Amino acid sequence: MAEKTTALKQAFSEALLTVTNMEELEKIRVEYLGKKGLVTELMQEMKYLSPEEKKVFGQAVNVLKNEVNDAITQKREELKQKEIELENSRMPVFDLSMPPVLDRGSYHPITLVQRQCEEVFRSMGFAIEDYSEIVTDYECFEALNIPKNHPARDMQDTYYLDNGQLLKSHTSAAQNAIYKKYKDALYNEGKPINAIFPGRCFRNEATDACHENTFFQMEGVMVDKNISISNLIFFMKTMLSEVFQKDIKVRLRPGFFPFVEPGFELDISCLICGGEGCPSCKHSGWLELCPCGMIHPEVLKAGGIDPEEYTGFAFGLGLTRLAMMKYGVKDIRDLNSGSLKSLAQFTDDK
Ligand code: DAH
Repeated sequence: MAEKTTALKQAFSEALLTVTNMEELEKIRVEYLGKKGLVTELMQEMKYLSPEEKKVFGQAVNVLKNEVNDAITQKREELKQKEIELENSRMPVFDLSMPPVLDRGSYHPITLVQRQCEEVFRSMGFAIEDYSEIVTDYECFEALNIPKNHPARDMQDTYYLDNGQLLKSHTSAAQNAIYKKYKDALYNEGKPINAIFPGRCFRNEATDACHENTFFQMEGVMVDKNISISNLIFFMKTMLSEVFQKDIKVRLRPGFFPFVEPGFELDISCLICGGEGCPSCKHSGWLELCPCGMIHPEVLKAGGIDPEEYTGFAFGLGLTRLAMMKYGVKDIRDLNSGSLKSLAQFTDDK
């Protein structure tokens, strides 16, 4: 029996020498150690032996099995190492003194639109605030006058974390924190609260050319004594005319949002047909761009501001929508595609 193990070991060692890649190695592994492999078969032969012979032979087969196993593992490492070396030898050699030939890439259309909006609002005295993408139910809903089980929550289904927090479904979720941050300056120094807060929003949404589960909005608020709807219209019109670099006609229609009263849909006259009516504006001459309204008294109260003394407006500009209009992006999914080629075509600003 001892010859058998020696012969098998000899055969295995010879076979292993011929292996040049992982597939061949796997073949040999199965041939020797597989369920019906040669080493496994040797084990089967033990049943014909006496107890003493069994002990000796069993040990010899076990040693053989371990040796085969170790040799295969070692060979695998060698092959891996060779693959890495081959891969490295194929890597291009970089000449650091060469002038750049590759395109440096371009800013994302949303980044460009966001920066333009920020610039315009900054020039009008607005602060620019950043806010977390993970918020509490209170910030996203309760503080905005959307209690549990309110039907307005249906349209804003989002992604929930195990700890009850959620990915913000709209930038309005930062309103409460902004009021709390600036209310002392409002009361003590008479400084109006005027801030914009752009951000990424999330919704549990089936995606298509017009819907995405991840998109950008830019919220803005202004709170002071005697703030009225005319202030709201002025700021929106100025901002849009600057962004589009032409005088933009706007109109307000009533719209319902629990955190504003009255609430509006702000439409701009269609940029493609100039208000004549075309397929892009569904032949109405108007494009819906920015919901807005006068901040609801309950929302001000939740932020620690007395609605008897102060009023304000808020708006939620769809930054993604604005970028699509400005750069003629037809499919919203292109924006999150990560494809530099398709994104670069929308803009040549670097
Ligand atoms: N947060 C709303 C949404 O995403 C949009 C909105 C509506 C924001 C009216 C506002 C507002 O500030 O006044 O659907």
